[in-house]
Amino acid sequence: MEVNAPSMKEALVGSEVLLPCTFLVDTNPVSIQFLAIYWYFGDKEIVRYNNKGKVTNHPRVTINEKAALGGNVSLTLSAMSITDEGAYTCLVIYSPHRQEKVIKLKALAVPGVSVEKRTLIKDQESVLQCSVTDFYPESITVTWLRNGKPLGGSVLGMFQRNADGTYRMNSTVTLSPSDTLGSPVIGCQVEHDSLPKPMSDSYKVKYGASPSLRVFSSKFDGRQDRIFVCEASGFYPEPVELKWVLDGKEVAETNLDRGFIKESYLWMSPGEGNRLTNITCQVSHETLVHPVSVMQSLPKSECPSPGCAHNTIS
Ligand SMILES: *[C@@H]1O[C@H](CO)[C@@H](O)[C@H](O)[C@H]1NC(C)=O
Ligand SMILES: *[C@@H]1O[C@H](CO)[C@@H](O)[C@H](O)[C@H]1NC(C)=O
Ligand SMILES: *[C@@H]1O[C@H](CO)[C@@H](O)[C@H](O)[C@H]1NC(C)=O
Repeated sequence: MEVNAPSMKEALVGSEVLLPCTFLVDTNPVSIQFLAIYWYFGDKEIVRYNNKGKVTNHPRVTINEKAALGGNVSLTLSAMSITDEGAYTCLVIYSPHRQEKVIKLKALAVPGVSVEKRTLIKDQESVLQCSVTDFYPESITVTWLRNGKPLGGSVLGMFQRNADGTYRMNSTVTLSPSDTLGSPVIGCQVEHDSLPKPMSDSYKVKYGASPSLRVFSSKFDGRQDRIFVCEASGFYPEPVELKWVLDGKEVAETNLDRGFIKESYLWMSPGEGNRLTNITCQVSHETLVHPVSVMQSLPKSECPSPGCAHNTIS
């Protein structure tokens, strides 16, 4: 008797896997009286098939009994996961003969690749990020390209593990002002066991300008309430988003757009103003990696004219 099976098999996470195993005996037809088939995962018996029937000790595996009598005892495993990796033994007994074959099953998960498409500022050093998600195994190569040519200055981030055992990782590249000149195409290319050829995502550089942010408060003659103004200017392209954060809580307020200047107003009664300790205006714009805030500390004494207490950033 001869048993045939590959020594290794790779399968994509989530797929249905066929672990091939066939046997050949001299007698025809095969007599079930002499036949016993066993499948093991590691040391654990997962399938047994003999003249008493079939016993399965695994929720996601099957063998086809009809095919088994024809010499095909291949195991079908559904919904492959990383925990299914390991050694599978196909043992065929055809009394008095006995032979087994071990198949190493390896999991593969295809990465997602996405390069950050943030508007950059001309003549400034920029950092772009490429996120590589949900891949397996861990070993991976990330190459940054500028107009198809490899770029130096990239750093692999920490590998993190997802609940299903796959990995994710960010790679960052620092682009010098000359690297971003002339709207080049910046690519993030990934090589991985799960990919027959490298996979990439790319971004054609666009330029913009970051907003300058200014916060000021004023008090109207003879009125007790105070108005705060947050102004973003000098940015490109539209839009910007302005947000007031009062003691850590976001509030929506009136916004006014005047072309490439945007203002947000916040009215506050004296009682309200006395309770608050931290009034912040936050701006989000596509040139900014993180929102930028300007804080307005509440003056103890009243502020006599518009613009008397202000902060600026640029
Ligand atoms: C063995 O049976 C499986 C189904 O259980 C089938 O997919 C496979 O092609 C068969 N292999 C051979 C060599 O006939
Ligand atoms: C990659 O960066 C994104 C956005 O900055 C972040 O949310 C994520 O947690 C990072 N992933 C890893 C694996 O560090
Ligand atoms: C004020 O609030 C902002 C936004 O919530 C926060 O970033 C800043 O650290 C706070 N400042 C103080 C002094 O609490």
